Amino acid sequence: MPRQVFDRLKNLGLKVAFKKKEEAVCPVIGEDKIAEYQEKAVKKLKKLSRHGYVRITSRGNSAIFAALFIAKKINPKPKLIIPDQGGWISFKRYPLILNFAVKEVKTHYGIIDLDDLKEQSKNASALIFTSFAGYFAEQPLKKIFKICKANNCLVIEDASGAVGDRKLCNGKYSDIIVASFGKWSPVNSGYGGFISSNNPEHFNAAKEVFSMISVHPSFFKEVIPKLNNQRLKSILEKAEAIKKDLKKFQIVHPDSRGLNVVVKFDAQTLPQLLDYCQKNSLQYVLCPNYIRLNERAISIEAKRIDFLKKIC
Ligand SMILES: Cc1ncc(COP(=O)(O)O)c(C=O)c1O
Repeated sequence: MPRQVFDRLKNLGLKVAFKKKEEAVCPVIGEDKIAEYQEKAVKKLKKLSRHGYVRITSRGNSAIFAALFIAKKINPKPKLIIPDQGGWISFKRYPLILNFAVKEVKTHYGIIDLDDLKEQSKNASALIFTSFAGYFAEQPLKKIFKICKANNCLVIEDASGAVGDRKLCNGKYSDIIVASFGKWSPVNSGYGGFISSNNPEHFNAAKEVFSMISVHPSFFKEVIPKLNNQRLKSILEKAEAIKKDLKKFQIVHPDSRGLNVVVKFDAQTLPQLLDYCQKNSLQYVLCPNYIRLNERAISIEAKRIDFLKKIC
């Protein structure tokens, strides 16, 4: 009980039992320490995103909403482009809240069709897409950026699968980057995310949304050790090993880097694939599924492996 409350009660003639020494329930991080950790986390993310402005958010989804809000204000055109598969659920839902007309750009099993993008990006406010399509195939980021810039269409890269990657999560070829630090992301902090940009006007335009987003003060310290490419590298290596094991099956984009391995199946191969997953303790997602592939296939989720647990 705080001393002032105790004194007031005593003045009122009330006897209150006072514990001599209060035990701290949890360690308290001082304001200056919080600011220090926040600065450190932001600095790391600036390096990883190659962007000058970074904001840590409560979720990947809140970062996505902020990015779309920025697009609406900075580049006000009715159309917003998303990939026809290999995207994220919020790409379909959030733009409607902001009165965007959502148009799908064609993909080749998740990888954006550049000819269609040339057409679709005309008169579009922004393109939002995942830089690892459905977490299983790498997008041609530089080419996408070039086409969109020629048509004055903002590029919003969802780099949830690519934080720490040498080529993707790349502010050189993205106007805005968003990412999730959720459970099965390469940066798996359980929750949180970030948004970044090189343009101060973007962050200024998002002020109202930013005022709705915060994280617990302890989050900055927790996330710092995870802001690197270690887990991402382990996942990419594991996915390559899975592809080797399954080379006689119909792998989608076998030569592209990815965090998951997507394999088409038929009545004969499905039991074999399920057996492989079970024997190797691998989780999977059945497709068709917008967030992976719109075809009959199985997505073997190397990104869900808990590498740390296995080492300890
Ligand atoms: C590609 C992608 N973007 C965004 C999100 C949303 O992230 P969050 O759950 O942190 O809001 C997810 C979540 O899994 C995701 O996979």
